[in-house]
Amino acid sequence: MKSVKVFTVGLMAAGVLTAANAATVAKSEKQAEAAVEYRQSLYQLVKSNAGPMFGMAKGALPFDAEVMKTNATRLEQLADMMADYLLVDTTKFDVETDALPALFSNEADVMKKISQFKDAASGIKAAAMSGDEGSYGKAIGALGGSCKSCHDDYKD
Ligand code: HEC
Repeated sequence: MKSVKVFTVGLMAAGVLTAANAATVAKSEKQAEAAVEYRQSLYQLVKSNAGPMFGMAKGALPFDAEVMKTNATRLEQLADMMADYLLVDTTKFDVETDALPALFSNEADVMKKISQFKDAASGIKAAAMSGDEGSYGKAIGALGGSCKSCHDDYKD
């Protein structure tokens, strides 16, 4: 049973990878469920890397330029995967997702928001490397703004 599942997931991933930045449509409930699982997993990784930096900006944690550099680099990498995992249209199936249907019909705008998210991550890295602690909070704030901008329009 397990190997069958892995095989299906493998096919699915191959489909997603060749889709490179173009919205694709899930073809079965099973595919749609997998797509939602991947999409939400990606955002769990985003949260796990952004969370400590939000804590720093709020003063709950001390600024740590090394953590900022590492986590911002990971966010840049996650940004590169985001379109492929985000833009699998799951609206035809009854899946438990917080993605709003508008997500799948506004590709250009979604790509712009992903790019803003990546720029914000790069901004944090640049701030951390400059060592100018006074600029850290603002750079992290821009990241928070990029999450909110996409969630406001495309997340329930
Ligand atoms: C380009 C759009 C976009 C950006 C940028 C974005 N998100 Fe999201 N996020 C979404 C969408 C859409 C969902 C809903 C996914 C679903 O339920 O299928 C989501 C879901 C989530 C979830 C819930 C995942 C789950 O397990 O259900 C978390 C946590 C999250 N985002 C955190 C963040 C954080 C933190 C940032 C910024 C550092 C961020 N997101 C940036 C679009 C975005």
